[in-house]
Amino acid sequence: MNLKLKIWRQKDARDKGRMVDYNINNVSPDMSFLEMLDVLNEELNNKGEEPVAFDHDCREGICGMCSLFINGEAHGPDRGVTTCQLHMRKFKDGDTIYIEPFRAKAFPVIKDLVVDRSAFDRIQQAGGYISINTSGNTQDANAIPIKKHNADMAFDAATCIGCGACVASCKNASAMLFVSAKVSQLALLPQGRVEATERVLNMVAKMDEEGFGACTNTGACEVECPKGISLENIARMNREYLFASMK
Ligand code: SF4
Ligand code: FES
Repeated sequence: MNLKLKIWRQKDARDKGRMVDYNINNVSPDMSFLEMLDVLNEELNNKGEEPVAFDHDCREGICGMCSLFINGEAHGPDRGVTTCQLHMRKFKDGDTIYIEPFRAKAFPVIKDLVVDRSAFDRIQQAGGYISINTSGNTQDANAIPIKKHNADMAFDAATCIGCGACVASCKNASAMLFVSAKVSQLALLPQGRVEATERVLNMVAKMDEEGFGACTNTGACEVECPKGISLENIARMNREYLFASMK
């Protein structure tokens, strides 16, 4: 396939940035999207030009690092996959592909397609953990009975990889899907109930402080989430928040 690429180039956080056109030829449909960008970068390197900066790590849909907005969709046109799992067979010969960074006030662009998603880390630090008694009297986690349904829902929430596609897809740049997944995975388990009240209050307060927008129930986040995190988690977090605020 021969493709036209329109890629966001931005030297650093202060640069205004702009779309730059590139042509790439002989792209195999079996290549992943990131492999296609690797080939482009190889060509740019060979010409003595600055390669395009983009985030990636595992390239297996696990780490949540890859974060491209492709033809107006977070992680591109496929469903239930991250950018690193997107393959070039989703495109046709002669296509023009627009490649941009995830855009949100709370995710400032660092360079080209790389954004700073450390706001998510700070939300996690505000409560996305459980404290463990390590005195030697700790109960074996396997000795605590948990309803299968709850265990399944907690596991589903725990599959959130923190990629930020929910924020990038939301017209308000809301982080509610991400935060609700992190709150839910612990709220559904007895081990997470001990600190449930302060957790939801602190994580929501941090989310607001970091500059994410409000949720207006559009549901774009659920559609674009590569891990299928359900809007039910937002409803659960809202209930958790309501009860916590009344205590
Ligand atoms: S909820 Fe989905 S889209 Fe949002 S950070 Fe988690 S995995 Fe990514
Ligand atoms: S590079 Fe790890 S999820 Fe894409």
